[in-house]
Amino acid sequence: MKNIATQLQQVDEYVFSYLAKKVKEVEARTNSKVINLGMGSPNIEPKEEYKKFLSDEILEPKNFVYPGYTATTELKQAIVNFHKWRYGYELETNKVTIANGSKDAVVHLMQVILDPGDEILIPNPGYPAYHGYAKIIGAIPVSYRLSEENNFLPKIDELEKLVSEKTKAIWVNYPGNPTGAVINRPLLEEIVKWAKERGIWILYDNAYSEIYFGEEKPISIFEIEGAIECAVELFSFSKGYSLAGYRIGWTIGNSKIVDALEKLKSLVDSGMFLPLQKLAVEVLNDRDLAWQENMRTEYKQSQLAIAELLKEIDLRFELPEASLYIWAKIPDEFESSMEYVMQVLENKHILVTPGSAFGEYGDRYVRASICSKIK
Ligand SMILES: Cc1ncc(COP(=O)(O)O)c(C=O)c1O
Repeated sequence: MKNIATQLQQVDEYVFSYLAKKVKEVEARTNSKVINLGMGSPNIEPKEEYKKFLSDEILEPKNFVYPGYTATTELKQAIVNFHKWRYGYELETNKVTIANGSKDAVVHLMQVILDPGDEILIPNPGYPAYHGYAKIIGAIPVSYRLSEENNFLPKIDELEKLVSEKTKAIWVNYPGNPTGAVINRPLLEEIVKWAKERGIWILYDNAYSEIYFGEEKPISIFEIEGAIECAVELFSFSKGYSLAGYRIGWTIGNSKIVDALEKLKSLVDSGMFLPLQKLAVEVLNDRDLAWQENMRTEYKQSQLAIAELLKEIDLRFELPEASLYIWAKIPDEFESSMEYVMQVLENKHILVTPGSAFGEYGDRYVRASICSKIK
């Protein structure tokens, strides 16, 4: 038979699937359980009322039908109201569209913006889907470095060196995966100004907006004046409400991009299951701050417990202010993060993710997820 698409062949197997196989091998051989700090899969039970709400809606006879291609009017309005409450700005409902988890929006946003050969600036280390999917559609991912010396934040003068006639967009992700860094308002203002001057779209990924441990809440790009002209932003129910398996997210921002996304999605899928959309309205209107505060307290406890474990395996790190991860430096004697990960898996039965999975500038680091109760 003929080959599968060349573009897909260029992309490596997703590192988490490779590591899952290795964990199984070690567990079978040693007959003992590995402490898995690999994936950032939320491990805090979602609110009981949400599960009950969804199961009642599933039993509603009229909910079995196709849900319509875009979000219901109620859901779009609930998203707009949520942004007003959480961030203080009000965007019209034509600037909102839903996604089957924000990863669905990550890939489809690149599809609506990029042609083969176009360039897109991507944080390195950064979320692997940016790089992988850009390649699948024949675009060119161009890495911008997030270095520890600069608190894992972009530098405008470095972006300026990387930009070309072909650059169409930049991914900006704060709170950041894998580093846990947060961005400040003056820097985000500078990035917006720069992107507007350059005519480049900003794809702002705010999937971890509700996972923060300091006093300051993560900001939204639309708190910056004029950002609507050049940006869209992603949000997710996966982390902040612990509903990762339900696959609910949304994109908000420039209506040219939002319209294009809705056009593409009408060809790709047939909308989001109505009970999930109704649940999303319920969650956004509920605004249960106490539940979220409790979730953050539990994650903070896990973060501290896991930090102790990481010290035992010779990792060096600062605790991040946000996200579900600790980004830690490996000892100098190891050639690569993968070598370190394999050694710790074999000898200590602990799995962390090699930093190289997030780009070559991550190779002196590993990422440990705090979505695990180890004590
Ligand atoms: C930076 C970032 N963006 C987006 C996503 C996608 O999340 P979801 O599709 O569950 O909303 C993830 C998942 O881990 C992520 O780390």
